[in-house]
Amino acid sequence: MDTRPDETIADAIRRAARMLADSGIKDALRDCRLLAAAALGVEQAALIARETDRIGQSAGVTFSVFVKRRINREPVSRILGYRGFWKEELLIGAGVLDPRADTETLIEAVLDYAPDRLKSAPTILDLGSGSGAILCALLGEFPKATGLGLDISPAACAIARRNLERLKFADRAAIRECDWAAFNQGNWNFIVSNPPYIESGEIAALDPEVSQWDPALALDGGLDGLDAYRTLAPLVSSLLAPEGLVFLEIGFNQSKTVPHILNIAGLTVKEVRRDLGGNPRVVIAAA
Ligand SMILES: C[S@@+](CC[C@H](N)C(=O)[O-])C[C@H]1O[C@@H](n2cnc3c(N)ncnc32)[C@H](O)[C@@H]1O
Repeated sequence: MDTRPDETIADAIRRAARMLADSGIKDALRDCRLLAAAALGVEQAALIARETDRIGQSAGVTFSVFVKRRINREPVSRILGYRGFWKEELLIGAGVLDPRADTETLIEAVLDYAPDRLKSAPTILDLGSGSGAILCALLGEFPKATGLGLDISPAACAIARRNLERLKFADRAAIRECDWAAFNQGNWNFIVSNPPYIESGEIAALDPEVSQWDPALALDGGLDGLDAYRTLAPLVSSLLAPEGLVFLEIGFNQSKTVPHILNIAGLTVKEVRRDLGGNPRVVIAAA
């Protein structure tokens, strides 16, 4: 998109939204409003009052760059560098999964199984911590909890550490770069994980925002999507404290297969919880 400094903000947004819509992007106007607010350095609410102002050279150039990136199917969250998850704003970046709203189902499930959250001091292990989304949300809800996030991706570990620092959780939790298959320490009260669970053959058909921008390491669950669960089930079984619980995110079509894998590893499945869209999303099991 070319830059027109004399154009009003409203006109620039409308012109950009047409370009996004023409390239097949849903919610084009909403995306353009978010990008324009960021380019101008104002909140969404403040944008309305400024819409008849000229966009100007500096914000106009920034907005044009943002729009070009969005036309290239880069998600708004990646362009802006952050994503709201649960009650926090998390940094995200290349090499880290953009956290999904569906994963908040897992946070709700943990809270339901731990009514004494303000007094208890659970130990929390997050396997495949990515940006640290799940770990940070739980550390926020359990003020006395301590935790560890593991991830094989150096980029994800770097971002998760920054999120722990920014949210002031770094004194209660750490991030370790390692393959979960090589991890053997513990006696954890809660083990949480949102592992890669997409079938390898399905990835290319996902929206470009996912297939081109989320790292394959975060998506690819192998031929049948279940590789990670086969590794994690016996691991979790050996790492849980006697009264411990595991909360695993699953794909919508894995509500039978994942519990079966957990049962074989000696875990007792307590519930398969659905997300807001009605799809099975989290398996909860006990040691
Ligand atoms: C679906 S993402 C989840 C990220 C984050 N927990 C979230 O919910 O937003 C899965 C994560 O598992 C990590 N991962 C994949 N295989 C792994 C392995 N063998 N050991 C440790 N982490 C792994 C990926 O790098 C990725 O960050």
